[in-house]
Amino acid sequence: MVHIFLNGYGNIGRRLATAFSKDKSIELVGIAKYSPDEETEKALNKGYKVFVPKDLKEEFQNKNYKVSGTVDDAIKEADIIIDASKEGKGFLNKMNYYIPFKKKAIFQGGEDRNGKHAVADIIHNSRVNYDKTFEKDYVIQGSCNVTGMGRVIQPLLENYGEAIKRYDVNLVRRSADLEDVREVKDSIEWDKHPHHQDDVKDFIPSINLYVDSLKVPSRMMHLHQMTIRFKDEPPTKDKILEIFNKEYGIAVINKAKGTADIRKKAIELNFEHGDTGMIHIHSDILKIQDDVVKISYSDDQTGMVIPENYMLIQSMIFKKSKIEALKQTEKIFNIKKKRKMLEEEF
Ligand SMILES: NC(=O)c1ccc[n+]([C@@H]2O[C@H](COP(=O)([O-])OP(=O)(O)OC[C@H]3O[C@@H](n4cnc5c(N)ncnc54)[C@H](OP(=O)(O)O)[C@@H]3O)[C@@H](O)[C@H]2O)c1
Repeated sequence: MVHIFLNGYGNIGRRLATAFSKDKSIELVGIAKYSPDEETEKALNKGYKVFVPKDLKEEFQNKNYKVSGTVDDAIKEADIIIDASKEGKGFLNKMNYYIPFKKKAIFQGGEDRNGKHAVADIIHNSRVNYDKTFEKDYVIQGSCNVTGMGRVIQPLLENYGEAIKRYDVNLVRRSADLEDVREVKDSIEWDKHPHHQDDVKDFIPSINLYVDSLKVPSRMMHLHQMTIRFKDEPPTKDKILEIFNKEYGIAVINKAKGTADIRKKAIELNFEHGDTGMIHIHSDILKIQDDVVKISYSDDQTGMVIPENYMLIQSMIFKKSKIEALKQTEKIFNIKKKRKMLEEEF
């Protein structure tokens, strides 16, 4: 039995809590809350123990929220902490809690891999480097976009390697998640230095990858347009689809008209939290033109990284082989069943 503490109970933390509560080999010590808002009550109603920073305990108690202890208390009880904090808070958490209490931790994609606020020396992508995280105490789970790109690029690399000259990706990113209360700004915003390029090259260093990123006023998934330039003649569309049909966590669909179709279908089909947990290759717009293959796929921003965090626990704590870890992950997330349902719908 492994004891896990979730430091952060936002979009990602809530989903991880659901997944952990389905697994008998995991005991969720509890979740951390930093704002005494209605999410605290929702977490308590779900039966999770709530831990808060020392100096905020009184504030929570004044609102009659039952607090089980401080963040320090929970961290002492845990074998590993999943840090799902607001972007950029992970570094201080590591300094203030995880290092002093000698605890392992998994960080999310919003944290730094390089520079003075780096939280770990590796970014995990289960398709690429699952085996390299066994002995690590601190690992960053790549962000949803980074996870999606790794999932598409690695099979191409294994099949075509040196035959590919370069990869150019336009990330069309959603502005907010469905549950976010903040307003979505009516603007198309660019990013001068998208971190995604360096993050992917961190676990696939050999590739020629160029990433541009635009944020658009949507809450419904990301869309990646990937252009893969071959040195000579590119493969056929059938050959490319054959490769992705064999991959885990990828649905190949051809009837969706936009990202909202897929998100709404996931909600209608009662997928947990309305997530598919995968990427969806849109074969109707997969094109071979001259020396390039153009692949567009939507990337379930909130769901993508939940099975990935779970895979990391299988590695860092349970030391399972990748085959065993995938089997266990499938039991909790039913990715294959969901994929089949989506492929039948679209
Ligand atoms: N949302 C996505 O689609 C997505 C996808 C992939 C990766 N990620 C990454 O996952 C991380 C979390 O994202 P999110 O969307 O879940 O954010 P979020 O919804 O804004 O939630 C952040 C949580 O952090 C808590 N928090 C505040 N200060 C904290 C601290 N010092 N230590 C620990 N927790 C603290 C907040 O608690 P209170 O609510 O109590 O204030 C909140 O529950 C980020 O690194 C993000 O880049 C997000």
